[in-house]
Amino acid sequence: MSDRKLLVDRVAIVAGGGGEIGGAIAMRYAAEGAAVVVCDISLEKAEVVAEAIRNAGGRAAAFKVDVSKEEDCDKAARRAVEIFGKITTLVNASATASPDGNVETLSTAAWREAIDVNFTGVFLMCKYVMGHIRAAGGGAVVNIASSHGHFGLPGRSAYCSTKAALMHFTRVLAIDYGPHNIRANTISPGPIDTARSLRRFGTRENSNKVRGRGQVLGRTGTVEEVASVAVFLASDEASFVTGTDLLVDGGQTAFKGTALSDIHQSAT
Ligand SMILES: NC(=O)c1ccc[n+]([C@@H]2O[C@H](COP(=O)([O-])OP(=O)(O)OC[C@H]3O[C@@H](n4cnc5c(N)ncnc54)[C@H](O)[C@@H]3O)[C@@H](O)[C@H]2O)c1
Repeated sequence: MSDRKLLVDRVAIVAGGGGEIGGAIAMRYAAEGAAVVVCDISLEKAEVVAEAIRNAGGRAAAFKVDVSKEEDCDKAARRAVEIFGKITTLVNASATASPDGNVETLSTAAWREAIDVNFTGVFLMCKYVMGHIRAAGGGAVVNIASSHGHFGLPGRSAYCSTKAALMHFTRVLAIDYGPHNIRANTISPGPIDTARSLRRFGTRENSNKVRGRGQVLGRTGTVEEVASVAVFLASDEASFVTGTDLLVDGGQTAFKGTALSDIHQSAT
């Protein structure tokens, strides 16, 4: 087996890179040889990830970026090129923690915020980064959608809709930029153990109980398992992969039944 690094000579912008999945992707990209620009609305969180990369011997910068603000996205792209000379790779992992509610109870402001950050934010990052990737001779975009873009959840119309829209947006991005040697794909994580999920489910135990139930693999996933797929999609290993979505959901979307705990029990 080869131990060559997969992202040597790449410069990646990771929006939402201060978060758990974005942070794990930023760390793995740096470990695979990429210089990484960690962008997040929280500069503090972005700095933590960038510093961890530098402490591990990698190259990283941290920028405060609100992806829903056009001027922030433009500035981030320009500064990334100033510092590292080019951009080859864009990851969009930012998302709001939108509240639950049906159309009557969800506020219009919360709906708009979800669209602004989860969807328009990706458009804006792409708007200001794609020209730089093209100028670098090509590269890859990895947008983080969700298994909830494949199926609905009660009270989560804003979140689910933005993630479904993101997949389709990315297909068209792939069509528009294929001729420029730029691939674009989404990853749809399923139930991943993060602080974000802990906020929803209270404890890790409860999260595993609620979300691990019905999973083909009988457990929730880790941020590293998402980051591995993000490395693959950004690398030449995925050179003929574009305009598609990769579910990293432990089989959640394949299985339409209820709890699998009985099957797991009978297999032991
Ligand atoms: N955790 C899961 O189980 C799971 C499952 C499926 C999909 N996802 C998706 O993965 C991505 C990362 O989720 P996570 O679990 O790491 O959550 P997280 O909250 O740790 O990360 C999201 C990051 O986005 C940042 N952010 C929020 N608004 C922003 C804005 N306007 N501009 C820039 N940055 C902003 C936050 O500060 C945070 O650091 C999200 O797109 C989420 O929808 C997560």
